[in-house]
Amino acid sequence: MSIIIEPISFYESNYAWLMIDEKSKKAIVVDPGDANPVLKFLQERDLSLQAILITHFHDDHIGGIAALKDKYHCKIYAPLKEVSKIPNVDRTVQDGDVISLDGIDDIRVIETPGHTLGSICYYIPDLKVIFTGDTLFSMGCGRLFEGSPQQMYHSLAKLVNLPEDTLVYCAHEYTADNGRFATSVISENIALKNRVEKVKQLRSQYLPTLPISLLEEKKTNPFLLAKNVDEFTMFRKAKDHFV
Ligand SMILES: [Fe+2]
Repeated sequence: MSIIIEPISFYESNYAWLMIDEKSKKAIVVDPGDANPVLKFLQERDLSLQAILITHFHDDHIGGIAALKDKYHCKIYAPLKEVSKIPNVDRTVQDGDVISLDGIDDIRVIETPGHTLGSICYYIPDLKVIFTGDTLFSMGCGRLFEGSPQQMYHSLAKLVNLPEDTLVYCAHEYTADNGRFATSVISENIALKNRVEKVKQLRSQYLPTLPISLLEEKKTNPFLLAKNVDEFTMFRKAKDHFV
């Protein structure tokens, strides 16, 4: 399998992730909130878009669907629980579903309520990657707009059980800010220190800090290190007010 994954950055902090089969020149995009940068990338590389995977209904994740579908007639996959809020959906998916596409035939859906009630992640064991939308960020997690701390805690616990060499692709470049918060709430460890330093270097060159391995996250992400729901809730509340 010759799949490469490229970030398409847009708005202030968003990434749409493009999976490209270099042989067939077909691509799949995750969370295209803005069509223009995706269209530009596809045209420059002479790629055709076969599918769009949506993690949740927020505008900065779905805003590009209509224009991309119009041009490429690609299939739109989106969470069943949020289908009424997402345009042009061809197939709804829920926990345990497997999506089969040309070039990648085992894309697993994991429901991870918390940020929104219908949020999902797309896990591809053959590539050892997971697209986590606004559920898991590097050294952080999504705000709880709809779900409870319990729900998010259990959602993150599902992700933690995946193989540690899984690479996490999240939908925002929040890593530097998250690193500052992590440093303020968890006792300093060498992994966190190294990660913060590496992130500083990458961002000084305007480079993405993603993807990051689940192993690295387990060592540095306070929301994954929380001992129980109470501690998780405390971290989440503190992060909401952290400046
Ligand atoms: Fe969101």
